[in-house]
Amino acid sequence: MSAQLKTKNSKLKTSAVPPRWHHEVERVLINEEQLARRVKALAREIEKDFCGREVVVVALLSGTVMFLADLIRQLNLPLRLDFMGVSSYGGGTESGRLVFTKELRLDVRGRDVLLVDDILDTGKTLGRVAAKIRALRPRRLKTCVLLDKSARRVEKIRADYVGFKIPDVFVIGYGLDFDEHYRQLPFVGVLRPPICPKA
Ligand code: PRP
Repeated sequence: MSAQLKTKNSKLKTSAVPPRWHHEVERVLINEEQLARRVKALAREIEKDFCGREVVVVALLSGTVMFLADLIRQLNLPLRLDFMGVSSYGGGTESGRLVFTKELRLDVRGRDVLLVDDILDTGKTLGRVAAKIRALRPRRLKTCVLLDKSARRVEKIRADYVGFKIPDVFVIGYGLDFDEHYRQLPFVGVLRPPICPKA
């Protein structure tokens, strides 16, 4: 599998794994600088589409933590923030049954909603959550994901805003976890086998 991935127009160069993470991280897939640049560009795209209207940002717990914090700091729009808790992986790596652990507190009826997730994988999570939000009759719903791993898609779904398209590797860092570890890494990395049960 190539160590590179593509944004819309360019190939990204890889960076060295910091020594502290050598045992667990096979390689850096997206470094801090690349993340920062892309998040800024996404914010500009979103601002353009929402034309100054107030947006209700709905973020899915917990993988969005870093992406969300960076994205909303770049967004020059009036916004309100809410969270939904949904879990699909349990302690493993396969998407399974979805469990809702936190519901919305804000009323999104008639509002412009931006649904934010860290990764679009099989598409079960985003598909199910988007359907749930649509049933609440927002004025419009747009979806934004940092990572799009289309190789494993089982649902026919695409996100309106995508940070990076990535290959079928198990990614950690910048909010993404393996068994709740590694969320704090400032970059997106590939988990090193044999720690990774499905690389
Ligand atoms: C992960 C990730 C996405 C979802 C994507 O969530 O954060 O929400 O899986 O997978 P899918 O497209 O196959 O549905 P997870 O349940 O691991 O929770 P987390 O965000 O707390 O890590």
